[in-house]
Amino acid sequence: MAVDLLLGLQWGDEGKGKIVDVLTSNYNIIARFQGGPNAGHTLVFDGMKHVLHTIPSGIFHEDAINLVGNGVVIDPVIFNKELEKLELQNVDYRKKLKISRKAHLILPTHRLLDAASEAAKGKAKIGSTLKGIGPTYMDKTGRNGIRVGDLELEDWKTRYRNLANKHEAMIGFHNVDIQYDLAELEEAFFKAIDVLKTIPFIDSEDFIFKALEDDHSILAEGAQGSLLDIDFGTYPYVTSSNTTAAGACIGLGVAPSKIGDVFGIFKAYTTRVGSGPFPTELFDEDGETMGRVGHEFGATTGRPRRCGWLDLVALKYACQINGVTQLMMMKADVLSGFKTIKVCTAYNYKGDVITHLPFNIEAHNVSPVYTELKGWKADLTGMTKADELPSELLDYIDFLENALNIPIKIVSVGPDREQTVFR
Ligand code: IMP
Repeated sequence: MAVDLLLGLQWGDEGKGKIVDVLTSNYNIIARFQGGPNAGHTLVFDGMKHVLHTIPSGIFHEDAINLVGNGVVIDPVIFNKELEKLELQNVDYRKKLKISRKAHLILPTHRLLDAASEAAKGKAKIGSTLKGIGPTYMDKTGRNGIRVGDLELEDWKTRYRNLANKHEAMIGFHNVDIQYDLAELEEAFFKAIDVLKTIPFIDSEDFIFKALEDDHSILAEGAQGSLLDIDFGTYPYVTSSNTTAAGACIGLGVAPSKIGDVFGIFKAYTTRVGSGPFPTELFDEDGETMGRVGHEFGATTGRPRRCGWLDLVALKYACQINGVTQLMMMKADVLSGFKTIKVCTAYNYKGDVITHLPFNIEAHNVSPVYTELKGWKADLTGMTKADELPSELLDYIDFLENALNIPIKIVSVGPDREQTVFR
């Protein structure tokens, strides 16, 4: 058995939660491998919307085990709120949720540090979700972090205190006005730690290894998108983890030779939330229409997402880095009604036309070269079969498949589980 991966190929918010939920019945284990509560994975079924931040998107299925892997960073307070919501929906998570002992904890002072660091950056801010992601991964690589498994040790609170004191000094160093009541934040944190401890902590790499030996199927669920990857994204406007395929090996302890299919998810257009370059961004009525029809607001922060045409140069780059074997096109329904569909197939760059992603894709460096295709009028949201899709959409799909040389296996035509067309 191999581990299949499911990854976002753009700047996040591609709809990974929906597709994991759709695919979960094919898998025994769903495992998150990076990121933390900066993610907002939205699932819609039976007329209800569910947003998950840390818990894998297979949690609503009866049989699947949901694993929070070692590469994930966990904020116990947010995790606790997710559990409370599941309880309200009568989801019996206790039997099917497990946490890696090697996952790192987001402390209240990590969140404060994130806020201080962003405030100090002024106009150059990353546009972070302010969930403490950057500071927590900094402590991980700086070898100062506190891991879930540490909660089983006697002295973890002493380590906590030392680290929180250091963070307070660092907040002071930023010299910005951040108001907080640490005692209050800590009270909530320690209460949430008690709840976290009711979920089984496991040696997850061993669990995965044995599961593979026992022929259990595993789907690794990515968070954010390839263009937010700490190494291959639009640095420094990125998140602090490896969102790309190799991140799943590190974030779960899976050998590269054990990776099976790599499902790459992309929207039929592009969105980005937060700061940073975005060559195909639209500032006109078309961009406004995409945002309005696509309800493009962050699931975690509620911020409006920036919208633009599909960037095939960036998509090809993401497919190459991830070794994508199957593509899934999301939100095709949002493009219904556009007379023309534009696709960026190259960039103008320093007097040349290039088809690869250069080091710097800021607007002063690259401008998009578009190919235009015919749009379609039909409302797709009730379609369930590939042969119902309008010919212009099929032409768009053909165009992308030919350019990328990878099949598009799923076309999503609405947020609900049922609004999924398999090809
Ligand atoms: P951070 O990971 O919260 O520090 O945010 C860093 C950058 O990644 C910001 O531009 C965020 O808007 C973006 N980002 C982080 N998580 C997500 C996500 O789940 N979807 C989309 N963008 C995200």
